[in-house]
Amino acid sequence: MTPPLLPPASNSPASTSSAPAPLIELRDVTKSYPGGVHALRGVSLTVRAGELLAVVGPSGSGKSTVLNIIGTLDRPTAGTVRVARQDVGALSDARLSALRARHIGFVFQHFHLAAGRDAVDNVADGLLYAGVAPKARRARAREALERVGLGHRLGHSPGELSGGEKQRVAIARALVGEPSVLLADEPTGALDTASGALVMALLHELNATGTTVCVITHDHDIADALPRRVRFRDGEITADSATGRGSRLHDVTDVPRESG
Ligand SMILES: Nc1ncnc2c1ncn2[C@@H]1O[C@H](COP(=O)(O)OP(=O)(O)OP(=O)(O)O)[C@@H](O)[C@H]1O
Ligand SMILES: [Mg+2]
Repeated sequence: MTPPLLPPASNSPASTSSAPAPLIELRDVTKSYPGGVHALRGVSLTVRAGELLAVVGPSGSGKSTVLNIIGTLDRPTAGTVRVARQDVGALSDARLSALRARHIGFVFQHFHLAAGRDAVDNVADGLLYAGVAPKARRARAREALERVGLGHRLGHSPGELSGGEKQRVAIARALVGEPSVLLADEPTGALDTASGALVMALLHELNATGTTVCVITHDHDIADALPRRVRFRDGEITADSATGRGSRLHDVTDVPRESG
């Protein structure tokens, strides 16, 4: 009898499986601030192309810090960060901007839209560093807005949009450059349940069409609906459903293990 095929050992660099290539690789990443604040204390994490994962954990546990480092908005104090096989720490600022424009889309809790500009201009800004001519930028922005269901709000400025609509504009801006990975920091945090559900449905849809998606969320229902959950606590990963590490993904009261 032939033995059953074993799943590849996750996170094993030596693994020669047919699993999708790692898109994001953090190794022993730390982030410290003056005054003895250790926002990240040795984080290793692999995210493969096509994944859809929730980043969960209490306030101050390092979730935004890790997302900003993955998105190359911030640099680690120590450790290595690879995005699309490139060692981020070894890149010049120009190469880093190019990597960001080519591979990364960001969505924030409070949208970060430009107030006096309409939806098309806000989304077109997502292509500012992608070497696309202004007219083509606007055409692609209109397509992206259609894709998120806002074809009827092209000329509206943020002040003329609902919270859910603003977030869909922000998602259109993030996806217009067709990034490899969409990083969303509490994208539903400022929305009512129905608008939040619409935004999450959109992220699921983007993932189904090939975009890797990492979402920070405080909402257990949202986290439970995602295929992978990674839990942070005090700057460390304490549970990861993909590696089977830790089991109490939602236990905010979990006490540190006793050593020895
Ligand atoms: N610029 C900074 N200077 C000093 N400390 C910082 C700075 N930015 C973040 N921190 C600290 O790093 C830790 C992690 O912050 P981070 O924003 O990653 O938390 P979080 O998990 O996203 O929390 P929340 O759920 O509240 O958004 C916190 O203790 C925070 O106070
Ligand atoms: Mg945060």
